[in-house]
Amino acid sequence: MHKHLISALLMSSLAFAAPRVGEHDNAYRLVFDLAGNTDFSVQALTSGIQIQLTQPVLTPESGTVNVPFVRSYATTANSITLKFDPAYLQEIKVSFLPASGEQKARLVLDLPKMVLASTPPSPSKDFPVPTPAKNPEVMYPESLDPNLDVLNYDLGLEVDVQKNFLKGTALIQLKTVASTPAIRLNLLGLTVSEVQVNGKTAAFQQQGQHLLIDLNETSSVGKTYRVQVIYSGVPKTVKDPGDTEEDSVGWKKFKDGIYVLNEPNGAMSWFPCNDHPSDKATFTFRITVPLPYMGVANGTSKTTSNLNDSKTYVYEMKEPMATYLATVHINRFGQEIRQLRPNLKIRNYFPASLPEDFQKKELGKLEAMLNFMEKQVGPYPFSEYGVIFTEYPTPYALETQTLSTFPSQKKADWAFVHELSHGWFGNSVTPKTWSDLWLSEGFATYFQDLWQYPKEKDLKAFLKTRYERNLKNKMKPPYITERKELFSQRAYQRGSLVLHALKFKIGEKAFGQVLQNYHKTHAFKNASTEDFVQSVVKTTGKPELKGFLEKWIYGSVVPEFPELGQ
Ligand code: ARG
Ligand code: ZN
Repeated sequence: MHKHLISALLMSSLAFAAPRVGEHDNAYRLVFDLAGNTDFSVQALTSGIQIQLTQPVLTPESGTVNVPFVRSYATTANSITLKFDPAYLQEIKVSFLPASGEQKARLVLDLPKMVLASTPPSPSKDFPVPTPAKNPEVMYPESLDPNLDVLNYDLGLEVDVQKNFLKGTALIQLKTVASTPAIRLNLLGLTVSEVQVNGKTAAFQQQGQHLLIDLNETSSVGKTYRVQVIYSGVPKTVKDPGDTEEDSVGWKKFKDGIYVLNEPNGAMSWFPCNDHPSDKATFTFRITVPLPYMGVANGTSKTTSNLNDSKTYVYEMKEPMATYLATVHINRFGQEIRQLRPNLKIRNYFPASLPEDFQKKELGKLEAMLNFMEKQVGPYPFSEYGVIFTEYPTPYALETQTLSTFPSQKKADWAFVHELSHGWFGNSVTPKTWSDLWLSEGFATYFQDLWQYPKEKDLKAFLKTRYERNLKNKMKPPYITERKELFSQRAYQRGSLVLHALKFKIGEKAFGQVLQNYHKTHAFKNASTEDFVQSVVKTTGKPELKGFLEKWIYGSVVPEFPELGQ
């Protein structure tokens, strides 16, 4: 190869890593040129951050930059590490800009200038690092502190609705499941003013989405702590690179109201939490809003109390709930509350701006839907159910525990079956990691299909179309490890086919036992894909089903489905 060609190739494939530095009024901006497009993720370090790129688009390098609180930077082909002065606690914004015209693709870091925290958390001593532990989550590892088991969140939320300003007091009961000197909760975009551990002021640091808390001792395994966090600010929704505001999750203001859609990692936009489905906890919500607004949350309505022109609404979720299933809605609501059975209360909420009869026809079938589910899986696991509508019209509904959240866009009846069925699969039995999401969405799609096509002939015709489309599109397996594909049809459609195929293979009766045993075994806990496979083998006594299921769940090729006919 000619020498000039080699250098031309080098020039085009590698970019010079040293960042350009710009100083603005409130922030320093670091710009890294990239040799191409990439996704990235940001991880907080003790006194620093690390940005992982999915593509090797940087030149390995290290050095210093002319920013007062930055001690050093280092790049590898696919990572950037910045080290800060320990006193630097600002939240850093990272954005990717694609190449355009002459401009190379760039990664832009905005580093707000130092503002001294009002109560400096013992800045003299080095902040302890949580004990490193194996993290089972591959897509959202930053959201889970594997050393923790949160038992209860008691959330005091005082909301200025017009300004969308939140003052929060979170009292968190937790257990350390490994010995650690510090814990790592998630809270993004809100400012913490004070942390107490067991009633004593504790040192803390906010680094990106992480709230690090010094336990002031190395915990013993199984020790419980009462952690209180006082925080405030205007909540910002959580976005992945490339997400629009509509894609974003968390605490959302729309028109006159506020609503919450957390799945997968939006809970950290409104309360400090171990933001992962594997760490379920009970909840109490105390929502204070100015009159005439109403605050609604998951669980059972306990008390309401007035103080001057505000009102506090208290709700309790006494069954364990994953953080992504927690919700709060603030608006003016019409409500419909009735005791359907001695142990099941229905509560539905409609924003005042929606027509009186909005989705009344579909909601009229709720009892039939409950019967439909119970016949197949067993009693509804909770003592409340209901739906709440947002004023926002699109795009999806969410199975927020005991109170499904629906958009103001009209949905077919099967969409209500889908969310209701998550009561068993999703809420009661919760996926252990995000890769196990098909245990939620594949199941909900399965029940939605059965409701939509009660006659086996129609169901088969419908499934044949889905199956052939999946085959033609080379649909990847429902077990997902790529963050961008988490909510793709892989989990929903190919996930549902796992169950339909299993049912046709073992027969309706054995399949019914599988559903019931699997739910009963893991009710109010988590289940992994392995747990499901084991449960099937155990219930049916057929070890050969392991291989069959694994092809459907992990196989890159969509397996044969002879029962659908040719
Ligand atoms: N779990 C919801 C359902 O039942 C869908 C959530 C989609 N989430 C998202 N961030 N796009 O279908
Ligand atoms: Zn779903």
